[in-house]
Amino acid sequence: MNFPEGFQFQSSQCRIVSRPGALDDLTAEAESIGVKRLMLISGTRSGAGSASRQTRAVLGKLIVCESTGVPQHSGVATVQAIAQMARDHQVDGFVAVGGGSASDSAKAAAILLAEGGRLADHSNVFYPPDRYVQKVLKAAKLPIIAVPTTLSAAEVTPGLGIRDEHGHKLVFWDTQVVPRLIVLDGRATMDVPASLFATTGMNALAHCVEGIYSRVRNPVSEGVALQGIRYLCKALPRVVDQPGDETARADAMVGACLSGLTISNARVGIHHGICHGLGSLGGLSHGVANSIFLPHAMRFNREVAADKLALIAQAMGADTRGLSPQAAADAAITAVELLQRRIGVPLTLGGAGLDHALLPRLAEGAMSDRGLFFNPRLASQTEVQALLEAAF
Ligand SMILES: [Fe+2]
Repeated sequence: MNFPEGFQFQSSQCRIVSRPGALDDLTAEAESIGVKRLMLISGTRSGAGSASRQTRAVLGKLIVCESTGVPQHSGVATVQAIAQMARDHQVDGFVAVGGGSASDSAKAAAILLAEGGRLADHSNVFYPPDRYVQKVLKAAKLPIIAVPTTLSAAEVTPGLGIRDEHGHKLVFWDTQVVPRLIVLDGRATMDVPASLFATTGMNALAHCVEGIYSRVRNPVSEGVALQGIRYLCKALPRVVDQPGDETARADAMVGACLSGLTISNARVGIHHGICHGLGSLGGLSHGVANSIFLPHAMRFNREVAADKLALIAQAMGADTRGLSPQAAADAAITAVELLQRRIGVPLTLGGAGLDHALLPRLAEGAMSDRGLFFNPRLASQTEVQALLEAAF
């Protein structure tokens, strides 16, 4: 029996539309969920990009205000400003265009508007070694439409992270903030650099990997994750080789979307638990942190999850016939390292510009991240710091 401990699965009320040119029909799609006064949320670069321009052109007067300066690792102050603008303009929904920060800011603003109080009041906390407190957020949230332009997969999930004033990532979980409509339009991402698809694609791959070995994995998320891995491993090298290949971009976006559906139930583990701090405190983009750290996290989990890593090796195209589970797990790690080099992502934390002096604080911060709770192997702070040293 593959899931002797039982499992849970939550399906969301989200409609995913994937098609070249899908953005052209956004008005009809928006009307189908009943929104009339939308706020456009995007980052600085994505706010000026073709997906945002097209969204504005198509939605026209349905957009009543915009917040287009959302930074990477969006913070509490940004979310408060978005919520205030939403109140002032009496918006009835958000359209988030761009990467993970745009989606997460829209989700966080929806939580703040509905639940009131301070944003931090609604975040979840992990108390090591094994207690996780998830807030129950009951108030009805404004609907979100997501137009992703990277492979962050944030547009799919009930989870989100927002940086607090100390550089710690506050994490939230609310199935009501899953976008009601997600538009995947590879054609609208042609001005997004292939290198950004590569690094955010490694983040999507990490979602699939972590979902497969997670303590709360289930048969649905396992199947979705394996399919996500197949899509990503085929599409990412094609995007890097031919950035103008619209089909390769679309396939990569489908892979990312599958990765988001994976962690919407199976959650993420130690890899993300550490990468959250590498972003919010260390200043690395989430994609770059993920690109570097994934093989290290897999190696840490190898002794307890070799059979799961073997599944990953097979989905990545490795021939594991006749191999022991441990050797097949090693093949998965090797396949990820080959993919890193094939698509040219950063390989070390030092090379990516991380300040080595931050490692003790990063290890300490990771210990309260929920990722360590869902990881199949418990980790001590000493072990987390050793992983950071290895990745440096
Ligand atoms: Fe991620």
